[in-house]
Amino acid sequence: MSFAHRHLLGIEHLSPSDITAILDLAETYVDLNRQSTKHADVLSGMTQINMFFENSTRTQASFELAGKRLGADVMNMAMQASSIKKGETLIDTAMTLNAMHPDLLVVRHPHSGAVDLLAQKVNCAVLNAGDGKHEHPTQALLDALTIRRAKGRLHRLNIAICGDVAHSRVARSNLILLGKMENRIRLVGPPTLVPSQFADFGAEIYDDMHEGLKDVDVVMMLRLQKERMDGGFIPSEREYYHRYGLDEAKLSLAKADAIVMHPGPMNRGVEIDGQLADDINRSVIQEQVEMGVAVRMAAMELLARNHRGQHD
Ligand code: NCD
Repeated sequence: MSFAHRHLLGIEHLSPSDITAILDLAETYVDLNRQSTKHADVLSGMTQINMFFENSTRTQASFELAGKRLGADVMNMAMQASSIKKGETLIDTAMTLNAMHPDLLVVRHPHSGAVDLLAQKVNCAVLNAGDGKHEHPTQALLDALTIRRAKGRLHRLNIAICGDVAHSRVARSNLILLGKMENRIRLVGPPTLVPSQFADFGAEIYDDMHEGLKDVDVVMMLRLQKERMDGGFIPSEREYYHRYGLDEAKLSLAKADAIVMHPGPMNRGVEIDGQLADDINRSVIQEQVEMGVAVRMAAMELLARNHRGQHD
């Protein structure tokens, strides 16, 4: 299994065989994580630092558990309360941490490109846990693993990515990954939230949910990213739910065995009906969370192998 990368900054840099390598290794961790003893020691002796410059619950918890289960020493930096407040730049903070010899840095940052920049300055492996509206590679990988397990394959599927595409790094990373694996992708949402230039990714664009969901295998909903909006994107949340919120009636246009996905956190009653989100016969939202830990374990193991190689 070859994976010749120093960092995981975006899906953009991965080949289809890199993606398959991560997913295949992640499968072994899905099994391990279902045992009562969940330890593997592939990161034993290594130090992992999580730097989250944006609030996060599930992604940070998932990276922390992934590192601990692999035996790393894991430290969470509370970046909101850190020296950044005192005017230190991102790069100064990174250089300071770099001097403490971490092996893995997991970084989330509100600015697109900030994680790439940081990766150029440090010696360790950097994992992008979401940068602005740019990429969120481990989310796309966990979504891919969830789809592959539910559908038995990760190619030639019809996949609808719906809602606030414009502000979503999840949508961007998924578009790139699912495109590389040769799926047919539709982007569904109002023109204010699905700009026409997204067609450049090879996706078909729909502003009508009924048409967009027709015969799809996968319905991936996105959170309405209110914090990244400065007004005027939707008429009202009520109207948005009426036209673009996923409910039983709209889902009935998709294939009978279509799965429902959402990266979380969800706005119930805005982009998705709460009961549908909890319907274990349709929704794989909990599996996505489960796959997240396994995929992060796999990605960290592959990067750590390359990193150890440099020290030997
Ligand atoms: C996503 C994110 O932060 O980009 N959430 C996540 O990683 N769990 C999606 C979102 O915030 O809507």
